[in-house]
Amino acid sequence: MKYLKLSIIVIFSGTMIGCDLGPESPRGFSLPEGNSNEGKLVLLKYQCLACHNIEGLEPPIGLVNNPKINVRLGGKLTKVKTYADLLTSVINPSHKLARGYKLDSIQQDGVSKMTNYNDVMTVSELVDLVTFLQSNYVLIPFRRENYQHYGY
Ligand code: HEC
Repeated sequence: MKYLKLSIIVIFSGTMIGCDLGPESPRGFSLPEGNSNEGKLVLLKYQCLACHNIEGLEPPIGLVNNPKINVRLGGKLTKVKTYADLLTSVINPSHKLARGYKLDSIQQDGVSKMTNYNDVMTVSELVDLVTFLQSNYVLIPFRRENYQHYGY
């Protein structure tokens, strides 16, 4: 019986690892180096600030803000945002919805309310944009005392 349990665990974890390295895995994914200043211009060009805010960046004059959506980009996080995370958020936003917002305000039937840019944005623009976005995130240490009320 003991061995049966053990072999189930071994087979199960083998399948998990197998999935990780399958054709759907992000392994081997790598973006060329981008230009952060250009990325900022891309963000302004595509009017991302209609639904987002970034500390220290004013929306261009005349941009109509969506009053119901105001998702923050950048800021302090205890877990690193990889460029794969950020790129996925732009080209496949419904894959993983932003956390900390009322679900009704950011999605409908599991589909993100974010605009789709896949047919208009060039790959170079996307690379620069992701470089700019990443430069706005600051990794801070996880401090136990800040999370004690969650039971950590
Ligand atoms: C019409 C509104 C709208 C526009 C315009 C828009 N977004 Fe979004 N965006 C959203 C919503 C709603 C979410 C939250 C749901 C989700 O994660 O997809 C989001 C999420 C994101 C996230 C993930 C944030 C997180 O904390 O996980 C990133 C990154 C992002 N957007 C980047 C952009 C960029 C870059 C642009 C411009 C090229 C843009 N967005 C334009 C609505 C918008």
